[in-house]
Amino acid sequence: MELSMVGVVIVAGLVLAVAAMAAFLRAKAFPKEMDGIPGSLGWPIIGESFSFISEFSSPAGIFSFMNERQKRYGKVFKSYVLGRYMVFTTGREASKILLTGKDGMVSLNLFYTGQKVLGPNSLLQQNGEDHKRLRRLIAEPLSIDGLKKYFQFINNLAIEMFDDWAGRKVLVLEEASTFTLKVIGNMIMSLEPTGEEQEKFRDYFKIISSSFASLPFNIPGTAFYRGMKARDKMFEMLDAIIARRRIGSDLQQDFLGSLIKKHGSDDDEKLTDAQMKDNILTLLIAGHDTTTAALTWLVKFLGENPAALDSLREEHMEIQSKRESGSSLTWSEVNNMPYTAKVVSETLRRATILPWYSRKAAQDFEINGHSIKKGWSVNLDVVSIHHDPQVFVDPHKFDPSRFDDPLRSYSFLGFGSGPRMCPGINLAKLEISIFIHHLVCRYKWKPIEKDDSVQPTLVRMPKNKYPILVEPLH
Ligand code: HEM
Repeated sequence: MELSMVGVVIVAGLVLAVAAMAAFLRAKAFPKEMDGIPGSLGWPIIGESFSFISEFSSPAGIFSFMNERQKRYGKVFKSYVLGRYMVFTTGREASKILLTGKDGMVSLNLFYTGQKVLGPNSLLQQNGEDHKRLRRLIAEPLSIDGLKKYFQFINNLAIEMFDDWAGRKVLVLEEASTFTLKVIGNMIMSLEPTGEEQEKFRDYFKIISSSFASLPFNIPGTAFYRGMKARDKMFEMLDAIIARRRIGSDLQQDFLGSLIKKHGSDDDEKLTDAQMKDNILTLLIAGHDTTTAALTWLVKFLGENPAALDSLREEHMEIQSKRESGSSLTWSEVNNMPYTAKVVSETLRRATILPWYSRKAAQDFEINGHSIKKGWSVNLDVVSIHHDPQVFVDPHKFDPSRFDDPLRSYSFLGFGSGPRMCPGINLAKLEISIFIHHLVCRYKWKPIEKDDSVQPTLVRMPKNKYPILVEPLH
């Protein structure tokens, strides 16, 4: 009896200690100034993480999490999610403030593992003039003119991939992932699409990519630890390639080549090796999963919307019919696909691959009458912007004709806006247009299973990798 009393006291003591700890952590996590922002902080320590995560990987994504709270609290509300206090906001005014980032008002808000994996020199960790300078350096090779020289490589790669699709079950996400990684590997450092170097590159990349948003424990056995090791290996590989270029045994007109050229010049555009490597990794990480997801959603939405698929096929069949028989897609054709461009935008709107854009307040400012304080994490809910019924009637319908006329600014943010707008937009559009052309001219397809679940990863993708059965059109 006495022993059980002791037990009760110990348990009660533990409960009190945990409650005190929770109260302490919460008090630390929620600065007093946040009292002025409406919203719920959820449970001690975990906050609203559970409902955020479960909504995040639901078919509708964080839309219902946001929508429910916006109805209750308005366009600006606070929450405590994944160990961080956050302010969520949406709408044109918030987009303008957060995305233009005028006068250094905000910086990009990368979480800890992302910072470590990409490295301190990454474009994503630069602000102000340093950010502008890096953007200038990567702009030229990623411009429409700069990409022209990769067109043939991408087109051949797509033809080869689709040659292999006839009459079989295809996991769209896997195929798209291989395709986009080969494209970006070639564009950045002229990596051949097959062979030992490609295999190594793919293995390292996959490990790094899955560590990007992992838990921040750098101890053996964790995804973060494996990611940092793979990063070292990837950098050894880049060191070897850079060394070959420097002694002139392997001159290439690729992205790395253009950086090395600038590296050696006298102007102020010199980059150190560490800067080059961090930014090559940044482009790989930022460009691979996003484009892979876009291609996968595209196949899904087209399969579910026969009228849009018919109109798209009509555009591509017409392009094909005007061509001499036996010849393939050309650069001028790929730059003149008006309906395809609308299909791409509608895919990015409906899927909203990156559901929110995160910033850190670099000074105090106001959004919709609420004071935001320096240091807070302020997040733009893009899903709600893309599903605003005032702008997009019947917002859950897939309808490319929404993009027939230009939209008001900040209504569609598929590639972001302002100084941090996606620098890979032309490459992504080029890859997607080539992929679409060969897909719709050659095949019809149907999904093998009905499952709308979404991966619980930063970039939204179908969880089942979207398996389809493919048949030739004729
Ligand atoms: C369909 C494919 C893609 C989508 C939907 C996409 C979307 C986006 C969005 C929305 C942003 C801005 C995020 C923010 O403001 O917080 C962004 C930034 C970025 N994207 Fe993309 N992207 C795609 C493809 C690519 C490709 C192919 C590359 C590289 C070759 C790339 C490289 C980057 C980089 C480096 C940034 C950061 C820019 C900066 O901070 O200045 N993206 N992307």
